[in-house]
Amino acid sequence: MRDAAAALAAAGIENVRLEARLLLAKAAGATTEELIAWGAEEVPVEVARRLTGYVARRVRREPMAYVLGEREFWGLPFRVSPAVLVPRPDSETLIEAALAILLDRHKPWRILDLGVGSGCLLLTLLTEYPAALGVGIDASSEALSVARANAAALGVGSRAELGPGDWRIAGWGRCLPAPFDLVVANPPYIRRDEIAGLMPEVARFEPRMALDGGADGLDAYRAIVAGVPHLVAPGGHVLVEIGEGQGPDISALFRSAGLPVEGHWKDLSGIERVLGATH
Ligand SMILES: C[S@@+](CC[C@H](N)C(=O)[O-])C[C@H]1O[C@@H](n2cnc3c(N)ncnc32)[C@H](O)[C@@H]1O
Repeated sequence: MRDAAAALAAAGIENVRLEARLLLAKAAGATTEELIAWGAEEVPVEVARRLTGYVARRVRREPMAYVLGEREFWGLPFRVSPAVLVPRPDSETLIEAALAILLDRHKPWRILDLGVGSGCLLLTLLTEYPAALGVGIDASSEALSVARANAAALGVGSRAELGPGDWRIAGWGRCLPAPFDLVVANPPYIRRDEIAGLMPEVARFEPRMALDGGADGLDAYRAIVAGVPHLVAPGGHVLVEIGEGQGPDISALFRSAGLPVEGHWKDLSGIERVLGATH
């Protein structure tokens, strides 16, 4: 573990002791608590070899979540692969907003997630609303495989319909089983010219399609806002995650589509992160 931590530190990574412990636990097929109980026991050669492989990946700045193959979101374990965005704590703000809007936890709400990725938003909502039905689309078939595996692992597979869809194609919303009580989306919203300057974990490893919001970061919102009025039930809601400072522009897009903005939610850093509109 010392060697692993030193290699990670030399690569400019922070929290090296924590990461080294998590990587060793994965290599050993043990929990971090079990590792602590092992104390100074020698690491088997096979485990050390696996650990070396994981450290080499992390030193190249591959995200921890890809090396470990999972990330926790809203207290739930999500499988992740390089085909999906790593679920972010900031995105939990959208779950909080949904819980504040759809108050009855036991109604059979119909929920649509545009750009479902790992499934962290839709599948978390299905665990919070045990009678709800969810539809999730993504333009990436690899991402859909990850989302399907997560739906099954979380026990919500029978209530989650996950399929291909691409909001760049005209009429993209027509084949979806509307109306929905809630439409959620965390679309790609990084300005294209900013991607190269992001942390290496993001810029080099996360799927470009999950990040790239076009020249001004708003391409996906334009397409989504244009389709959403036909998808949301009267009195239904739309919740979108937004990038820092994008609130005014995205609010204007919603208003121009006849969807009045009903709320803004801040993330734990105090940044406006989720915008809600109604129909
Ligand atoms: C920022 S990620 C969000 C993933 C997940 N919902 C989350 O919150 O972690 C955006 C997702 O939108 C998908 N996506 C990008 N462009 C798309 C398009 N034109 N149509 C459908 N999905 C798209 C990406 O593949 C990616 O999974």
